[in-house]
Amino acid sequence: MSKFLLDYTLKVRLPLIIFTLILVFTVTYFVSYAERNGIGYEPDQPVTYSHKLHAGEMKIDCKYCHTGVEVSRSANIPSVDICMNCHNVARKDKAEIVKLTNYFEGNSPLKWKRIHKIPDFAYFSHASHVGKGIDCANCHGDVTQMKVVVQINSFTMGACLDCHRNPEKRIAEFYTLVNTHNIKKGPEYCSACHR
Ligand code: HEC
Ligand code: HEC
Ligand code: HEC
Ligand code: HEC
Ligand code: HEC
Repeated sequence: MSKFLLDYTLKVRLPLIIFTLILVFTVTYFVSYAERNGIGYEPDQPVTYSHKLHAGEMKIDCKYCHTGVEVSRSANIPSVDICMNCHNVARKDKAEIVKLTNYFEGNSPLKWKRIHKIPDFAYFSHASHVGKGIDCANCHGDVTQMKVVVQINSFTMGACLDCHRNPEKRIAEFYTLVNTHNIKKGPEYCSACHR
């Protein structure tokens, strides 16, 4: 290789390659950021159930279906029986309700795709948040306006701690709690969430 070519490779080509690699990494990092956090995750569901219609327009209480939300770790996804309380009469002839009825009569569970999820090694309880008056919207956004539920917040450790350090600020940004000034900070010691 001539001296000129070697120089060219070292001074021009190499920095260019390194620059490109860094650029690609940086762009990918930021573009995929939301996806890695789960933000924007909005899977198609087996039945086109709308929260906007049921919880928004018809104002059915969240707890009618998410029965565990004040009393246990998990909020619970309702079984088809709960839907059938109404849909054994309401809109029986519609395609989606026929589907629903088939699940019910076939006794087969409706496998809704899970949207919000933290890893098993971390502990979270709905009861200890909702029970203290923290509204669903602080973590899930305004579900009453969602035709299809979509994750709008990050559910990483950083996001948990962000609110735990300063709940008044975080909660005021979203929904007005009756008594925001009375709210305690959330725990920051590791074993609160890793037990
Ligand atoms: C009539 C029953 C019903 C009512 C009322 C209801 N939901 Fe749901 N909810 C469901 C069903 C069924 C699913 C699973 C399918 C889906 O994701 O849309 C669900 C899913 C969700 C999810 C996503 C769960 C996941 O996989 O991460 C959230 C969050 C949620 N509901 C919040 C609410 C809130 C907040 C309210 C009240 C404003 C509410 N729901 C009212 C039936 C209901
Ligand atoms: C409290 C009664 C009630 C419950 C509980 C209920 N629904 Fe409904 N649902 C209705 C009514 C009433 C309508 C029609 C509203 C309208 O079109 O104005 C409806 C509409 C629908 C539609 C649209 C049907 C169409 O094509 O017009 C679907 C799909 C649906 N519900 C699914 C579900 C599912 C799934 C559940 C259980 C997670 C459920 N519903 C629970 C009362 C209920
Ligand atoms: C402090 C934040 C926070 C609040 C407030 C909150 N949630 Fe959740 N929600 C979560 C987290 C975190 C998960 C995932 C839990 C997991 O993976 O174990 C979740 C999961 C869910 C799920 C999926 C199924 C399940 O049982 O885990 C539903 C449904 C749900 N939430 C409904 C609600 C409703 C309804 C309310 C209000 C009454 C509410 N949430 C309030 C953080 C919150
Ligand atoms: C919107 C604010 C907010 C978010 C987001 C939030 N928390 Fe909390 N959390 C609180 C507050 C406030 C308390 C203290 C409640 C009290 O005791 O008055 C708390 C208490 C707790 C506790 C102690 C109560 C118990 O059950 O032992 C745990 C554990 C916890 N949070 C876990 C989590 C995890 C895990 C996440 C993230 C997935 C999370 N939290 C997200 C506000 C939040
Ligand atoms: C408020 C709840 C909370 C507290 C307090 C907390 N964590 Fe976490 N941690 C989580 C959640 C939720 C996850 C899973 C989501 C994620 O990876 O961001 C997690 C994930 C982790 C992971 C795995 C990271 C990864 O990339 O997979 C480690 C390691 C960890 N935590 C260590 C700690 C240590 C050490 C402390 C104490 C200094 C601590 N955590 C305090 C909620 C908490």
